[in-house]
Amino acid sequence: MCVTGGAGFIGGHLVDALHSLGASVCVIDDLSSSSLEHLDELLAMEPERVSFVRGSILEDAALRDAVRGASVVFHLAAIGSVPRSIEDPERTWQVNATGTMRVLQAAKAAGLERVVYAASSSAYGDSPTLPKVESQVPAPRSPYAASKLAGEHLVSAWSHAYGLSGVSLRYFNVFGPRQPADSAYAAVVPSFARRLIAGEPPTMFGDGSASRDFTYVANAVLATLLAGSARLRTSGEVVNVGTGRRVTIREVAQMIAERCNKPGLSPTELPARPGDVQHSLASLERAKELIGYAPAISLEEGLTETVAWYMRVLAKA
Ligand SMILES: NC(=O)c1ccc[n+]([C@@H]2O[C@H](COP(=O)([O-])OP(=O)(O)OC[C@H]3O[C@@H](n4cnc5c(N)ncnc54)[C@H](O)[C@@H]3O)[C@@H](O)[C@H]2O)c1
Repeated sequence: MCVTGGAGFIGGHLVDALHSLGASVCVIDDLSSSSLEHLDELLAMEPERVSFVRGSILEDAALRDAVRGASVVFHLAAIGSVPRSIEDPERTWQVNATGTMRVLQAAKAAGLERVVYAASSSAYGDSPTLPKVESQVPAPRSPYAASKLAGEHLVSAWSHAYGLSGVSLRYFNVFGPRQPADSAYAAVVPSFARRLIAGEPPTMFGDGSASRDFTYVANAVLATLLAGSARLRTSGEVVNVGTGRRVTIREVAQMIAERCNKPGLSPTELPARPGDVQHSLASLERAKELIGYAPAISLEEGLTETVAWYMRVLAKA
């Protein structure tokens, strides 16, 4: 197996799962928004089953090395974050769109069986229809969303034109242990957890009435494994990966505050950011039908695990 972006947050959890299932895994990552901190242990423990190519998916030679001998490539490498893409749309496009094409070309040349692409719920934009169904017309509102949507179209085109079996998983707001909490682009859950653990009120963009389908990382990994192993032939289908439940930003802040033993700390408001959408909720019908996915871990359980992890790690820092 090859995992692009395997040093990152979701990629790292996917590598753990593949490794514990007995698979051999090669990770390619340029470490531009991650480090080897987590993978180092696996690389030292299992050098014959876990390998690492430090390089960009934009470099053909590095990619060739990474996919050699693999049957499936899980393509997660990307420049994440909507606000970052608004600041640097060019780099976002290069890595997320052109980079995806390079991964597909490498997979085709190496004769791989399947490409599983980490797509994004941001493709839906702000259409009021809920839940989001894959047949809806996409409406990207940021360079990030547009670049991730382009990746889906590339996966579909390479499936049809070259017979490369591909599938695009639209992840909905994934959270869990090891998601970066300290960057300016930190996602909602880690950013709230970090501030609450420090005894400060979390800061939210907008009035907190926006809602999200927060997906615990183990659920995203489960769907990703199912998509990689499904016997059926995929030809670029798009599949939502969420939980089918949404909570508001204000509600999730309260749930995190309770787990941090700071139930009285309510969030402070900052102006809403461009590119952010108001509501998000996944329809899981296609995921169930095509890859047999249903979430295994509830939001409450996921948040409990996640907050416990941040408490341990931030206490050490
Ligand atoms: N986290 C979410 O909620 C979410 C939601 C929807 C989609 N996704 C998608 O899932 C994937 C993983 O997201 P994540 O949250 O783990 O992000 P992440 O930033 O932790 O992981 C991305 C990894 O890609 C690597 N990378 C960036 N540019 C690269 C390049 N040119 N070559 C090689 N590696 C490169 C980074 O160093 C990082 O390790 C991404 O494709 C993202 O767009 C994530």
